[in-house]
Order: sequence, then structure tokens, then C-alpha cells
Amino acid sequence: MNNIPQEVINDIRSRARIEEIIGSYITVQRQGNNYIAYCPFHDDHNPSLHINVSMQLFKCFSCPAENGSAGDVFKFVEKYKHVTFPEAVKIVAEQIGYQYDFGDTGKKLFVESVTHRLNRETIAFCQYELTTKAGKPFREYLHNRHIDDEMIDKYAIGYNPADDKLTAYLSKKGYQDKDIIEANLGRMSSSGMHDVFTNRIMIPVYDGEGHPIGFTARTLDPDSNSKYINTSETPVFRKSNVLFNLHRAKEVVREKKFMIICEGPMDVMALERGGYGNAVCSMGTATTDQQIMAIKRLTNRLLLAYDGDKAGQSAIYRTGQMALQKGMQVTVLNNNTELDPDEIINTYGKGELAAMIEKPKNWMDFILEYFRRQYDLSNYNHKREYISAVMKHINELSEAMDRENYRHRLAEITGVNYSLLSAEQSAAEAPGERKADKPQPVSPRMPILTNGLEIAQKTIIMQMLQSNRGIEIFKQQLSKLPDASLNELAMQIIDYASQHGRLVISELASQISDEMQSLLYDINETEILRKEFDEETLNDAVIEIKINELIKQKEDISRQIKMVNDGVVKAKYVGQQKEINQQIRELKSKKSERVRKKN
Ligand code: UTP
Ligand code: MN
Repeated sequence: MNNIPQEVINDIRSRARIEEIIGSYITVQRQGNNYIAYCPFHDDHNPSLHINVSMQLFKCFSCPAENGSAGDVFKFVEKYKHVTFPEAVKIVAEQIGYQYDFGDTGKKLFVESVTHRLNRETIAFCQYELTTKAGKPFREYLHNRHIDDEMIDKYAIGYNPADDKLTAYLSKKGYQDKDIIEANLGRMSSSGMHDVFTNRIMIPVYDGEGHPIGFTARTLDPDSNSKYINTSETPVFRKSNVLFNLHRAKEVVREKKFMIICEGPMDVMALERGGYGNAVCSMGTATTDQQIMAIKRLTNRLLLAYDGDKAGQSAIYRTGQMALQKGMQVTVLNNNTELDPDEIINTYGKGELAAMIEKPKNWMDFILEYFRRQYDLSNYNHKREYISAVMKHINELSEAMDRENYRHRLAEITGVNYSLLSAEQSAAEAPGERKADKPQPVSPRMPILTNGLEIAQKTIIMQMLQSNRGIEIFKQQLSKLPDASLNELAMQIIDYASQHGRLVISELASQISDEMQSLLYDINETEILRKEFDEETLNDAVIEIKINELIKQKEDISRQIKMVNDGVVKAKYVGQQKEINQQIRELKSKKSERVRKKN
């Protein structure tokens, strides 16, 4: 378990800036003194993750409660990197340059599965086979496509021969048939075990951490009806979750500050040759939300570089909308050909490809052209449909200046009077539909308190967090809060303070349950609560709660009175009620006295 001394943990926590650590994994946006971000723990369409700088805590306001996305810097790293607590401490220490000998703690916990091992063996086997006589045409093919030996090495490209040589090799190495089949490297038929990928170029696919998870394999046979075969679903490979080249591209993204997405591994390698190692591909045009999320964790800027053909262009349209929905900045490869990036570099050269990347189309220019190709503007009905399709996207633009600019462009293209298009814009804006499907700038989600009793209880907690005197007053005057959760938090604060003497909120947070952390975060984010110690504020809140308790007692007694018939007992209850009324009056006057004094 965790053998890092608590003082060291606390020291690292107090030296690390949570906003910087989180900001090193995902894009964070400043908001006042604090930060917001798209939550990486669920599919977030608005920035729901808040970082409170003074508390050094984060909380997601949209994550399902049972997942408890709230906590300190270590909690974030644990969840984000799927590591244990000691590992998270070590990672944060490394990030801030904290010197401490962790020994074995936090050593990489990746457990290589048999599927990973089989993939690794297969890569080595196929790399060797590519150097053999049988592999020669495949090596030549790669060279002809300008993939030199250095690139072959870097991408660990190999050749899977015919005659089921691979599965025979793996069996001889002691791997069981069921594991080979599960890894989708072999399949069993009545005639025995056969290779899945025969006579193909083998391009390994890795996960984001660089572990080999599968293959995409190309045939040289132009007549084959499956140019590429990919690993089907295995315990470690699901195509919809995978981005080819992510583990290499993520290093380059740091410097380039944007990601390129394209269709195939040949395009990724072509882009790398052109000086753009920041490219990944979805291995086809069916890009998923998970894939976009994986990119968004690294950068907010995405350049879409799918093929210039029809399928590629509609993939750009679909994927672009997905990324925009997540608040990403989207541009499009300035490619007016039918070609893919690999064909572009081979036909026009590196310079031309770089120009298409460095001067990309912006999203609306793409939209204008994309729909332009689908409609014949000499036909009036088509023209109307074109206008309405494009206007939908213009209306989604967040900047008024951009909306204005593109209405002008649309007027030019269609020859329709600009003022008519403006009228359509305001009509579209009126029902407020526009707001629903585009990311809105989010105001901080301050918990709204309407209930006096709730405000009083949270005021008390806040005061307890500010000073030990607050804790003392609470213990003497109340010792308990009416709401069960708030009471539990109050008890945790007392516990913590009695153990540590002084109170550090982010330390306290690290020792309480997820539910309590989340509550603590809410209270600290509640603006109306006073954030410095003030005895009067605390006393007023105490009175509020005492009055509330008395009112409850009175109500209980009223119920009792209704149930008894005995006049003597009744009189006793009524007497009690009077007494309570007197107490309430006294408490109220104490409070108003202070208000009078203040004014
Ligand atoms: P393309 O047909 O555009 O192939 O399919 P490509 O990338 O240009 O391939 P090369 O340049 O001829 O070698 C785009 C991507 O779709 C997937 C592959 O990942 C391919 O790169 N694909 C294509 C398949 O998975 N299976 C196929 O049969 C074809
Ligand atoms: Mn191609």
C-alpha cells in the first residue's frame, strides 16, 4: 500500500498548483480567480469541471455522483491516468520537480496481458520476415511509397507471410490456441489453425501509452476486395476507441499545438515525412466521440485532413461538428483536390502539403463549399435549400462579426439580397434554438441557496473552516447540524482539526469521502457565504438554527395536543409552547439587537 509519509504527501500537495497540473493534461480556461475545463471523465458539452484555486480542489458539476469527480490534485491524476494513489503522488512530484526517493512506490503498474505479449512477438516476427527474400516485394512496395527504412523501423512495420507461418511460430513459442485466436492473430477451421493476416504488410497499432494492441494490414493485390484488414475486437482493441499513432503524435502536439486527423496510416506517415508528426488516423471515415475526446485531452485545436473525395468530405463535415460541439477549434486541410495527404505529398511535394496545413480553410469556408457541391444554384429550389443549410451553420457562429461576414459571403454566392438573409438570421435566433446545439460560455455554477436554514448551516461550516474559534463556538452552542450530510461534514472538520491543529482545506478534502468532498467544494463556491472568520455572522447562523429547532419542537407539541383529551396534560403542553415562544422571542431580539448596533 501507500508507504509515502503523510508529511511528504502534504508537502507535495501544497507545492503543486492544481490548476497547472490539471492544465498539463487538459485545456483549462481562466474564469475570475478560478478555472473551468471540459471534464475528461464524461462526454462533456459544456465546461463542467471547475478548479478552485484557493482551495486547490476540482469538481465536475455534471459527473454522475457515484463516480465522485471531485477532489485534490492527486485524485485528478489517479482518475485521469488510471493509476493508484502512490503513483499519482509520484507523478505530481515529478511534474513539479520535487526531490524524493519513492523507492518502488508508483512504479509503472501496466500489466502486460497475453494479447499484448502476442502482439509484441508478432511485431518482431513480422519485422524479421520483411527482411527476408519473401518479404522483398513488400519492402520494395514500401520504398516506392517513399517509406524508407528509418520510417519502417520507427513504425515497426513488418510482413506477415503466407502458409500460416506466424501462428505456427507462436504455437511453437508455447502460446495457446485460444490466446492466439483471442488476439485475432489466428483463426481455427476444420483444417486447423490459420493466420488471420496472410501475405500482408503489417502495421502495428498502439494505444495512447504505446502498448501494442493490434494491426492494420495492407495487401499488395490491387484486385483484393479488402485492401486493409484490421484487428477485430479483442480484449485490448476496439477500433472505435483507437487512434493510430496517438502515442507518437501526442509528443509532437506539445510543440505544434494542434492535432491533424486523417483517414489512413499511409497518410499519417506521409504527414510525418512532410514535417507533421502530429497526425493520427481513425482507420477509415467512421470517427467516434471517444476518438475526438482523446484528442481534446491533448489539444483544443484540430485540423481535419480526410481525403478530398466525397466520403472524406462528409467525414470532415461529421467529425467537424462533433469537435465543435465539444468546444474545439476546427479547421480543414486546404485541399481542393480529390486526393489524400499521401497522394498530395507524392504529387505536389512537401511544400504544397505544408501550405495546405498552414493556411487551412476555416470551418465556415468549408461549409460554404461543402454544400455548394450538393446543390445546383441555377435551380431556385436548390438555391433555397442551400441558403437554409448554410444559414443553420452561420447562426451557430458565436461571434456577431463572423455571422455578418458569412451572411455577406452567402449573399455574394447566391445573389440573394443581404438584407433578406439578415431577416432569416433574426428569425432563426428568436426561438432560442441556436443556443441549444452550440457550446455556450458558461457562467460559474454557483450553488443557489434559497433556504434560510441551509444558508445558516453552510455559514457555520464555512466559519468552522476559517478558524478554530469557529469550531469551538459550534461545539459549545450547537454540537450538531439538522441536515445529515452537512452534519457529517461538520464532524469531519472537527475530527480533522483535533488531529492536525491547523486546517488546510485541500488536505482535509483528501481525507474525506467523495460525497463530502463534493459538498465541501459546493460550500466554498457559494458566493454569498462570508469567506473570513466573523463571530457575529457565526452567532447569527447559530441563532437561526436554534430558532428552527424550537419551531420544530413547537410543531411536535401541537401534534401532541391534538391527540390528548386530558385537560391537565393539554394545559401542560400549552405552557411548554408558551415557554418556547418566549425563547424564540429572546433569540430573535438578540439577533436584531446586533443588527441595530451595526446600523
Ligand atoms: P482508403 O481507401 O482511402 O485507403 O481508406 P488509403 O488510406 O488511401 O490507403 P492506401 O494509400 O491505398 O494504402 C482509408 C482508410 O480506411 C481503412 C484503412 O485504414 C484506410 O487507410 N480501410 C480502407 C479499411 O480498413 N479497409 C479497407 O478495405 C479499406
Ligand atoms: Mn492513400
